[in-house]
Amino acid sequence: MDEKPDVARELARQHYDAGDPLGWFEALYKQANGKFDTIPWADRGVNPHLAAWCVRELHPRPGARVVVIGCGLGDDAEYLAARGAVVTAFDLSETAIQWCRQRFPQSTVTYKVANLLEFVGDFDLAVEIYTLQAMPPALRAQAIESAGNLARDLLIICRGREETDPPGQLPWPLTRADLEPLSNLGLSIQNFEDFDDPFQPGTRRFRAYWRR
Ligand SMILES: C[S@@+](CC[C@H](N)C(=O)[O-])C[C@H]1O[C@@H](n2cnc3c(N)ncnc32)[C@H](O)[C@@H]1O
Repeated sequence: MDEKPDVARELARQHYDAGDPLGWFEALYKQANGKFDTIPWADRGVNPHLAAWCVRELHPRPGARVVVIGCGLGDDAEYLAARGAVVTAFDLSETAIQWCRQRFPQSTVTYKVANLLEFVGDFDLAVEIYTLQAMPPALRAQAIESAGNLARDLLIICRGREETDPPGQLPWPLTRADLEPLSNLGLSIQNFEDFDDPFQPGTRRFRAYWRR
């Protein structure tokens, strides 16, 4: 959530107060009614940190089975499919998934409505971008464990902070310690990049890649 966050934060607050902390995603997509303006992450293009990583790592290879977690409006999934991966992309929001199907009617991506906390898979690569940081911190550990069980390899791109920094506001940056339990799932860290986002100066990002 990097721009236009006010509508999203207000909806999130209302849903938290009502005891439904994940409900605001569907509400936001529904309220947008097909317009991109109020969806803070609707860049209508591939995430540049994902694209740069794929080019650098030559990953995923054509034919690799990739799952995109919290795929939003589908741009990252479509990019991975265009690189030849066999892509499944899922999101909690039914409206987001319908929107993906409308935007990309010829797509080879299998789009699904699903909750990360319940989704089970056996993919070659799982890609998580900006979803963990948007989920309630109370669900973070469970969400990270679910993401870590989906595939042989895992790529996470998210906001980052030090343990000693204040937690901030939505989207809540992750700490390195948040991600350490992944090593208990048999994943070993291949590279952990910690950088100031050149496309959004002043925003600290992590881009981290694990293999099993
Ligand atoms: C901040 S958006 C990022 C979307 C996309 N990854 C991007 O970078 O454009 C987070 C997305 O994750 C979805 N989401 C949130 N919680 C989820 C969950 N538990 N399971 C699946 N999707 C979830 C939301 O509906 C939303 O589309």
